[in-house]
Amino acid sequence: MKDILQQLDDRRADARLGGGQKRIDAQHGRGKLTARERVHLLLDEGSFEEFDMFVTHRCTDFGMEQQKPAGDGVVTGWGTINGRLVYVFSQDFTVLGGSVSEAHARKICKIQDMAIQNGAPVIGLNDSGGARIQEGVDSLAGYAEIFRRNTEASGVIPQISVIMGPCAGGAVYSPAMTDFIFMVKDSSYMFVTGPDVVKTVTNEQVTAEELGGASTHTKKSSVADGAFENDVEALAEVRRLVDFLPANNREKPPVRPFFDAPDRIEPSLDTLVPENANTPYDMKELIHKLADEGDFFEIQENFAKNILIGFIRLEGRTVGVVANQPMVLAGVLDIDSSRKAARFVRFCDAFEIPILTLVDVPGFLPGTSQEYGGVIKHGAKLLFAYGEATVPLVTLITRKAYGGAYDVMASKHLGSDFNYAWPTAEIAVMGAKGATEIIHRADLNDPEKIAKHTADYETRFANPFVAAERGFVDEVIQPRTTRKRIARAFASLRNKKSSMPWKKHDNIPL
Ligand code: HXC
Repeated sequence: MKDILQQLDDRRADARLGGGQKRIDAQHGRGKLTARERVHLLLDEGSFEEFDMFVTHRCTDFGMEQQKPAGDGVVTGWGTINGRLVYVFSQDFTVLGGSVSEAHARKICKIQDMAIQNGAPVIGLNDSGGARIQEGVDSLAGYAEIFRRNTEASGVIPQISVIMGPCAGGAVYSPAMTDFIFMVKDSSYMFVTGPDVVKTVTNEQVTAEELGGASTHTKKSSVADGAFENDVEALAEVRRLVDFLPANNREKPPVRPFFDAPDRIEPSLDTLVPENANTPYDMKELIHKLADEGDFFEIQENFAKNILIGFIRLEGRTVGVVANQPMVLAGVLDIDSSRKAARFVRFCDAFEIPILTLVDVPGFLPGTSQEYGGVIKHGAKLLFAYGEATVPLVTLITRKAYGGAYDVMASKHLGSDFNYAWPTAEIAVMGAKGATEIIHRADLNDPEKIAKHTADYETRFANPFVAAERGFVDEVIQPRTTRKRIARAFASLRNKKSSMPWKKHDNIPL
């Protein structure tokens, strides 16, 4: 009996060694943790329960029958994050580069199926060279099984991917279908094909970092939602994100204890908007001042900075924030900011997370590069996302709400529940100067007349009251009371029930 128990311990110890001490040392040498070390940091201490530790592949080509490491390059199982259930897979780069075999894929699929069935998030720690080359189509089939489950799980349970090494081929497409992708700076890469293949096919010479490093994907491509300094920070931030999210689309996000009075008055907000309508101010300051304990989990911080997205809590409950940022391009809506915000609005709506929209927007960015890039279609994504959202929506216009962008940014007409404005709000088809130049074209050569027309237009429209007279703005509020007003508005909407007509699914402009 003792022998059998010892055998189990020995087999476990062997499985835990993955690709062997030499490769573990190499992994550490690159500043990376091993697959198991990552799982232990991600989950509550002692909560990890492993599945399929002894699974091996069945490939016999290219001498693979000689190499059958237990676990086959991925550690899978479940555990808790601050006491809440999550499913995890963590690819082991020390075993055949974390490449995905048929058996490796089956292990991930098992986790995905259990997560969908039991309504808990899946967190994938990706460190993989993609499809296991020795296995050919078996590996591709395995990948497609994972992709199908990514699609099934979308909108049902949160799916989070962390890219923690060089990820190529199929290893990037599964993360691409999940809700959030985080990368580790200087040690993680994502590309469909690596620099060598790029050179052969296109003759371009590019480093792995330039092609698919964290900077590329958080600043240029927007494939990734955030980048962190090292494995430890990335995993700690995933824990922080999970705390904001519901376990699945049928449950509400967790309610956390809060130590910040919901009716806190913020006198500094009375002077946040500068006297001059063209002077920028930092919308993040407003978000921090509204949030419980000033805590804002920002998503895609370094992409399309003219719009801010992320999570805060009000009275301990998660709220998604979408806010124009006047500090960047005057907060204009363009292709990138529309796409960024639209996807976030849809995530929040899918998971019953109420949305706060903070508006200071001069309109859509004009010009050929935007038109040729399809700003009409991309802008429509945001319009569509808000139009179909049935979660509680509260909107605050702090300053400009011009033209189509007024409509888009969770206006009353699109279905927002509460629309507040500060006294500094200006709601109009366009800015006074542009408007005057169009409707008083005949006076263009007379600066005095133009100045008077502009002043008249400003008096008429550069305020929230025309909209308030029509009930398009529910109330004009004192800036200092904003946290209290918004917290109360969301509290009143906790039992909101609203739905769209039955459909198989919509046809959002993609
Ligand atoms: C089998 C692989 C592998 C793979 C790496 N290894 N990728 N084994 N299949 N796809 C093995 C290596 O042989 C090596 O084994 C170990 O993993 C570490 O790899 P290195 O190359 O030494 O590491 P590094 O220099 O850090 O480079 C990592 C890498 C590179 C950038 C990921 O290995 C690479 O380019 N791999 C191939 C990527 C790729 O083209 N994959 C297929 C994509 S097609 P030893 O024994 O020496 O430790 C695909 C199809 C799916 O995924 C499409 C779905 C839409």
